Amino acid sequence: MRFHGSLSAAMASSIAMCRLHLRGSLSKCFKKVDSCFQRKFGTSTAATKTDAPNKKYKIDSKDGNKSFYTVQEEKIEQAERSVLISCPAKTNEKKFLSYLSRHGDINKCFFYESYGTYAVVEFSNKESLTSLHEGTAIPSINHEATVPFKSRLLSLRNAGPVDMSNDQSAPPCQPQTTIHINDLIQRLSKEASIDQQISSLTETYQLTEENVCLRFLVCSLLKDIAAAYFPECTIRPFGSSVNGFGKLGCDLDMFLDLDGISGRNLKRPKAGLSLEYQTKRSASERACTQSILSVIGECVDQFGPGCVGVQKILQARCPLVRFAHQPSGFQCDLTANNRVAMKSSELLYLYGGLDRRVRCLVFSVRCWARAHSITSSIPGAWISNFSLTVMVLFFLQRRTIPILPTLDHLKELAGPLDKSVIEGNDCTFVSDFTKIRLQDNTETLEQLLQEFFEFYGTFAFNRMSINIRKGREQNKPEMSPLHIQNPFEPALNVSKNVNGTQLERFVALCRESAWMLQQREFNVPHSGSATGNNAPWGLAALLMPSVSQVAGVKGRKKRKREPASERIKGLLESLKNSEVKS
Ligand code: GTP
Ligand code: MG
Repeated sequence: MRFHGSLSAAMASSIAMCRLHLRGSLSKCFKKVDSCFQRKFGTSTAATKTDAPNKKYKIDSKDGNKSFYTVQEEKIEQAERSVLISCPAKTNEKKFLSYLSRHGDINKCFFYESYGTYAVVEFSNKESLTSLHEGTAIPSINHEATVPFKSRLLSLRNAGPVDMSNDQSAPPCQPQTTIHINDLIQRLSKEASIDQQISSLTETYQLTEENVCLRFLVCSLLKDIAAAYFPECTIRPFGSSVNGFGKLGCDLDMFLDLDGISGRNLKRPKAGLSLEYQTKRSASERACTQSILSVIGECVDQFGPGCVGVQKILQARCPLVRFAHQPSGFQCDLTANNRVAMKSSELLYLYGGLDRRVRCLVFSVRCWARAHSITSSIPGAWISNFSLTVMVLFFLQRRTIPILPTLDHLKELAGPLDKSVIEGNDCTFVSDFTKIRLQDNTETLEQLLQEFFEFYGTFAFNRMSINIRKGREQNKPEMSPLHIQNPFEPALNVSKNVNGTQLERFVALCRESAWMLQQREFNVPHSGSATGNNAPWGLAALLMPSVSQVAGVKGRKKRKREPASERIKGLLESLKNSEVKS
């Protein structure tokens, strides 16, 4: 979640130190293991093609054609049956699970490392948690007092003589942070085609099923705190945690959903008696959101186990509470009354699930942009990941044979249950994948990547606005350097923060990257590859850090005559060297 404000250094360092490493393992002694567990969330290397009569669509999602909200409800329900347990480093998994199973059947369990070893344990029934809580003690600590808040974040203690050390070798460690960019470049350089490089990058970076479970669990733990005030509330993840474009290590955007209890949707009788709650009034919806977040933020700060560096950023355009959740390693942004962002997440999830090329291209472009500091984790005048994603979607709508339908078309396909109006804005669009017919575009990922750079390297940013609702560029309504119409709030520009310099850098890099992908030196695996001499090529070469600022590369004519920026020269040099060696 982006906001304009300062971050405390303590916060930044605590997040930097929170490194999550999963030791994925399933207990063989429990039968009810979810078969989905091994699969990745919302991703697949091979597109799942479903051809129903009179329908043509390609779904790329582990969850098949499940709607965004179906997936949300399922995962929220799973999270409510789960606990997070800090374990001694050498925990015997079998004994651990056997000890916990006295409270009921366990559906799944996995371990990860973040400031110690943690286990996520999902019981088959919620009742098991009551039993678990009954057998769990509040710790007594000398010289300090504890807040007696009975959360689902627990610690496993061994007062002996149970031997909890693993007699077998420890299960393999599955890191949950992204690999270093240099390692990624190495990995990609070994692939045989640019298409494979793009798939490999996506596989490497995408969130795993376990990581997504953990995200929902953290929301659920937070909900237990908010429930002190609003017992029927829900805390939902949104943004890249659930829209299919999340990269390992991305932040956890959360939405405190009070709609279920607001009574907004309750039909009042037209005649006769009825009751309504007496409530406090606030000057505005914004003021109400601010006071709710302020109180819950205070509670998270004072009573939330594992929640550190709590900051209440209530004056931002979208008020939020920011903190680090140490046991998971997530940087968390809690918002309320942010239903449009939920809708944006649903829309991105839908687009990303229609065709596997969408997610692959978004991952590659996001990674490329990050490698060249086109995007940043710090808020500023640069392009945000969200804007960049919308730009990729727009590009895919603009193919000669469009890969993605326009938002207006998705609205036409909507059913009665899809109707959604938020703060006067019509956010209606179809949620059922099977209603969407796609056209037969067979372009490869390599072609699309090349064309993406060509498209934005020559886009008339000075005059035109990007509009995924219409699927075509439109005259700019105002003079921001980059204008991307907010899909659900047409009067807003999602990239209003971007300045001219940042846009120029983006355009220059697009041009340079398009040029590189046309050159044989860069677009085929290097001859040294067979001998293990993997000089960066293709996508890997595009991710190489710029030696010089390419902002000086302007105009295609000039570039053709003088394409070799310092960066390209360096890359060509390294290719020559590796040829000599091999
Ligand atoms: P990451 O960089 O991986 O965190 O991507 P993200 O998509 O989660 O972006 P971010 O955390 O910045 O924002 C979370 C969500 O808020 C996005 O997915 C959007 O749904 C929404 N959002 C972010 N920025 C904007 C914006 O400028 N306008 C609108 N309308 N929504 C935004
Ligand atoms: Mg985010």
